[in-house]
Amino acid sequence: ESYDMGGHDTYMHKEIHEQVEAVDRVLRGRIDDRFSTVHLGGLNLGPREARQIRRVKILGCGTSYHAGLIGAQMIEELARIPADAEPASEFRYRNPVVDPDTLYVAVSQSGETYDVLAAVQELKRKGARVLGVVNVVGSAIAREADGGIYVHAGPEVCVVSTKCFTNTTVAFALLALHLGRTRDLSVRDGKRIIEGLRKLPEQITEILRQEEEIKKLAESYADARSMLFIGRVRGYPVAREASLKLKEVSYIHAEAYPASELKHGPLALIEPALPTVAIVPDDDLLEKNRAALEEIKARAGQILAVAHQHQEKADQTVLVPKNEDELDPILMGIPLQLLAYHTAKALGRDIDKPRNLAKSVTVE
Ligand code: AGP
Repeated sequence: ESYDMGGHDTYMHKEIHEQVEAVDRVLRGRIDDRFSTVHLGGLNLGPREARQIRRVKILGCGTSYHAGLIGAQMIEELARIPADAEPASEFRYRNPVVDPDTLYVAVSQSGETYDVLAAVQELKRKGARVLGVVNVVGSAIAREADGGIYVHAGPEVCVVSTKCFTNTTVAFALLALHLGRTRDLSVRDGKRIIEGLRKLPEQITEILRQEEEIKKLAESYADARSMLFIGRVRGYPVAREASLKLKEVSYIHAEAYPASELKHGPLALIEPALPTVAIVPDDDLLEKNRAALEEIKARAGQILAVAHQHQEKADQTVLVPKNEDELDPILMGIPLQLLAYHTAKALGRDIDKPRNLAKSVTVE
């Protein structure tokens, strides 16, 4: 992409709309139909080494950490390797036990975030193998890592990350598929995931077509003082990222909570003035998620659902096209990027440069 605004009023808007081509780019040349897997040339990890990994630990900050939470679930599901994500900024200060059989993955759009770089350097010093999932080619983290995946989102100018988040989740799907097919994921499941990946650009186009309706919703929520975002398992990192997006760009307070934890405290907050955004994928947890919506409705809470089918208990539902269960989180956050953008616009915020924030935090 050029830096030309192409008719968009902000980089955030432009970058949200660039996601169709960006996702196409992260997939390009990587799918291997013959073996129902993907080629990740820069990984620098042979099949024997891939089979020896006993854990995957993903490190990143902010939005990249959230993409890592989604990636960890994909790796557990598709490769059946225990995986988790942690903010790099926390990891580096707790004298972590570095395990030689763990694959460490550092995630960063800029490749320059100091907390991530410092975590990578500490890991390398202790002999760990570290991969980078990075957007900016040749950046410090990309250079420091033993190998990795470029997410090819193109330049992201808005301080608030959108297209890079989406591309990073796709890059994690590729990594999970690659590790899975090197280990025990069947050819059939490999094909299923590849078909799902191929559908993504068209499905993103479908989501972006709903912008006018999402804009109206955003305008109706713009006077909220606070919003709650909930999701369960695959939906929870989506809720976290959507909540971060809203607060960064609109300055509305937002909190993300696992839907399963509502009854352990946050239900006390529910009242008409606190809208809830619920991530409700059509997966094996659908009924559980519906029960959470009922709990909120019973307390007169307003609900906006992001779902694959209309949700009766919700006041409004934004429909997202269904993909494979494992890939659903890639798409479910996209309408909420638009929600954050239009809320901020309704409030007259400085969308590309929110107060107090920098695009990359290169100091401690
Ligand atoms: C994203 O919207 C944020 N501005 C922020 O959380 C960002 O993701 C974080 O600072 C990490 O940046 P990086 O991906 O360049 O490492």
